[in-house]
Amino acid sequence: MAGPDKKKLYPNENIKTVCYISNLPKRPNVEIGDYTYYSDNHDNPENFYNHIQHHYEFLGDKLIIGKFCAIAEGVTFIMNGANHRMEGFTTYPFNIFGGGWERVTPTIEQLPFKGDTVIGNDVWIGQNVTIMPGVKIGDGAIVAVNSTVVKNVEPYAIVGGNPAKLIKRRFSDDIVELLLKLQWWNWDEEKIFNNLEQLVSANDAETLKTLLKIEET
Ligand SMILES: CC(C)(COP(=O)(O)OP(=O)(O)OC[C@H]1O[C@@H](n2cnc3c(N)ncnc32)[C@H](O)[C@@H]1OP(=O)(O)O)[C@@H](O)C(=O)NCCC(=O)NCCS
Repeated sequence: MAGPDKKKLYPNENIKTVCYISNLPKRPNVEIGDYTYYSDNHDNPENFYNHIQHHYEFLGDKLIIGKFCAIAEGVTFIMNGANHRMEGFTTYPFNIFGGGWERVTPTIEQLPFKGDTVIGNDVWIGQNVTIMPGVKIGDGAIVAVNSTVVKNVEPYAIVGGNPAKLIKRRFSDDIVELLLKLQWWNWDEEKIFNNLEQLVSANDAETLKTLLKIEET
């Protein structure tokens, strides 16, 4: 035994509020890494895709989520399809109602486009967080409960509020550098299993250097 089965939707059969969303039926333009879970106590967690909003295939924007992320209830990923044209006198989307108004249908180029939303590995997204289009969140970051993330988040930063701002950094720069080198989330199951204690409780450069040496040999 080296941990739960990453291919199961419900890795712990006794907990039906937490599911590994990489095992949901695939969706175009959505990529989710192994072990990343969505947790919901009020709705079926298998409805995770309902939390990705305004995501239209013709726009081509992607939602990419890394491995070992913890995504709490009520998250909303707002994708590029949410944005209206803004350069004219009105932002009203006449074209979608027809009746001749479709003559002002914007081209894709005329719509605001912020690119893909990319969530790194080992990111903890708190309850009721909203993530705006095009935002990139670095590995190991934490987003505080009820935040709205409008700008990119550095690896291992803790951000919060609306708009989300830096609350604090989890580690010093040298430790972050080592952690980004280590990329423990890419280890095989057995290696993670054998190093669990260090992963959850160590926070010093020496342990990281030892782990990196093990990695190199
Ligand atoms: C981000 C979080 C982990 C920080 O925890 P912590 O380190 O114990 O932080 P503290 O409570 O000491 O607060 C640190 C600072 O962050 C601020 N802060 C905390 N949560 C915040 C939020 N949601 N929005 C804005 N600021 C927040 C505090 O006001 C405090 O500011 P100060 O330093 O100016 O006084 C925690 O606030 C949080 O949001 N956890 C997520 C819980 C959750 O959603 N779980 C879902 C189930 S998995």
